[in-house]
Amino acid sequence: MSMRILVLISGRGSNLAALVEAARAQAWPAQVVGVISNRPQAVGLQWAQSQGLPTQVLDHQHFASREAFDEALRLACLAHRPDLVVLAGFMRVLGDAFLQHFEGRLINIHPSLLPAFTGLRTHQRALQAGVKVAGATAHYVTPAVDHGPVIAQAVVPVLARDTEHSLADRVLQAEHHLLPMAVGWHVRGELQLQGGCVRHRHGAEQTLFFPDAGVTQAAAALD
Ligand code: GRF
Repeated sequence: MSMRILVLISGRGSNLAALVEAARAQAWPAQVVGVISNRPQAVGLQWAQSQGLPTQVLDHQHFASREAFDEALRLACLAHRPDLVVLAGFMRVLGDAFLQHFEGRLINIHPSLLPAFTGLRTHQRALQAGVKVAGATAHYVTPAVDHGPVIAQAVVPVLARDTEHSLADRVLQAEHHLLPMAVGWHVRGELQLQGGCVRHRHGAEQTLFFPDAGVTQAAAALD
């Protein structure tokens, strides 16, 4: 039976698009059944509608408290009967009740190599810290913000000429590979938790490198 994936977004929705396209192209035993945004103006909503996906807006500003929003979101999610909820650029911190309800069935993409740079403005902070590699993390969500068992990470070198935007662009390209890879593994039952760490059952490498090492080596051979 096909697994039902619900995607939560707040903005552009490029990770949502990558996910929907991978599910179709790779014939996953799963499909995206709906998209919920906490921002009415999220551009990703239009893309979802153009794909015939049911969309819903739950504007957090219309709720008196974080708890009230969380509960409304939980009920809205349940209406889609999801087997998996993916946070794809969803910019609200979710409360414990929501997280406990979907424990083990909630995946987030975060634009840093966790546990470094949790929270916002990750690329700016990475540049300020002078780190030489940046990247992104796909992880199961637990109550601690931007923590939880890591499914896979993408490593992106920081270049001397990088700005916050150029680094964000390259990390985003990596995210578009990373998130579908992680979610694809989950829906195929290829992941297991061992002592709080996520292992791929068949030993697949849970790291992606950008630029791809194979490509770099091929280019070097031409020099
Ligand atoms: C991504 O960088 C994601 O990691 C972060 O917000 C961005 C969302 O981009 N949390 P998009 O909406 O998927 O295009």
